[in-house]
Amino acid sequence: MMLTEKKILVGITGGIAAYKTAEVVRLLCKLQAQIHVAMTKSATEFITPLTLRSLSSNPVYVDLFNEPKLWNVEHIGLAEHVDAVIVAPATANILAKMATGIADDFLSTVLLAVRAPIFVAPAMNHAMYHHPATQVNLALLKQRGVHVIGPGTGFQACGTDGDGRMSEPAEIVESLTRFFAGSAWLKGKKALVTAGGTQEPLDPVRYLGNRSSGRMGYAIAQALQEAGAETILVSAPTDLQTPQGVTRIGVQTALEMYDAVLGLFPEMDVVIKAAAVADYRPSVEAEQKIKKTGTSCTLELVPNPDILAELGRKKTSQVLVGFAAETENLLVNATLKMQKKNVDLLVANDITKPGAGFGSPTNIVSFLFPDGSRMDFPQLNKLEVARHLVREIARLLGMEMETKE
Ligand code: CTP
Repeated sequence: MMLTEKKILVGITGGIAAYKTAEVVRLLCKLQAQIHVAMTKSATEFITPLTLRSLSSNPVYVDLFNEPKLWNVEHIGLAEHVDAVIVAPATANILAKMATGIADDFLSTVLLAVRAPIFVAPAMNHAMYHHPATQVNLALLKQRGVHVIGPGTGFQACGTDGDGRMSEPAEIVESLTRFFAGSAWLKGKKALVTAGGTQEPLDPVRYLGNRSSGRMGYAIAQALQEAGAETILVSAPTDLQTPQGVTRIGVQTALEMYDAVLGLFPEMDVVIKAAAVADYRPSVEAEQKIKKTGTSCTLELVPNPDILAELGRKKTSQVLVGFAAETENLLVNATLKMQKKNVDLLVANDITKPGAGFGSPTNIVSFLFPDGSRMDFPQLNKLEVARHLVREIARLLGMEMETKE
């Protein structure tokens, strides 16, 4: 597979394996990827920026405060423009910085700002690799969706034998090409995802809302986009940033979401209803702020349309995915919802579990299918859940898929 037009940032940190990264850059350039290199100061002790500049045909970044070479604020510009980042070799130090969010040089700052997929190829002495601190850092990074390549086993520069060697350049490049091949699963497909909690106005000041943060839906939009789908995000108000390359349509109420989603439905291949839609809305929206009277009052609510159920009735060839947020009898309630709303995949989550549901950066979900099969996942970062979901959607669409990792 060629990597034409893929912009890849290669981060090099200070380990003896840095000399091998020249070969990673050469191989990626041979596949026609556009390579930008960022080196830490220590990396420059092992291999010169000139070598990398000559191989990549691009300026090499070392300092945070240089005159800009390409974009306005360089580290932010780079972070926004790249399709992937590979840090090779990744020392114990950079892994610790990434895990804790330290940004004290060019590379670590870019790594904090980047939204594209990040790969790391750890390289360090066997004992350092097995130190609990390194293992905890790697586990945390994996949980956040960072792809870890290797390390390999064998003779190490420090004279010992064991694991901790950086994976060979060909293996690193193979992981990246496999990722990009996998990431084309939904190429040519149109996907719509809804996110956030709808708001049902009561008067000009107040509304009825819910606790949905929108994070799950935004992560799904990102994963769909990564997978090559043309992605539309119909979003209730949230504080979240629209993932790069995704078209966002803002809505406030369930009725607005209904109109936006139903209007686009016929041209979609996939619709994922991750939004928490208000089942009821106030029967009237007061034109002026409702004044307190000092006595109790009753709010009359009328039902909103069930958007997902309507899509389930209307669907032709679309893959339809629903969510079930439950506080009790998770599997029974979720199975009933799947059948009632005629969805092809239902994501069930018990929102009372710590690490799951509204507001949490992680989720604990099961995927339910109409044939009675089920996939249970451990606590995962929402982006990882989203990537699993996208994989299953691609399978339901009958897309040819390569095995990933
Ligand atoms: N949903 C929808 N329109 C609604 C209510 C829900 O499209 N008016 C969708 C949600 O986006 C989600 C699924 O239906 O994909 C299930 O939502 P959930 O709130 O768990 O269930 P409800 O159908 O509202 O049932 P209940 O509130 O009784 O649990």
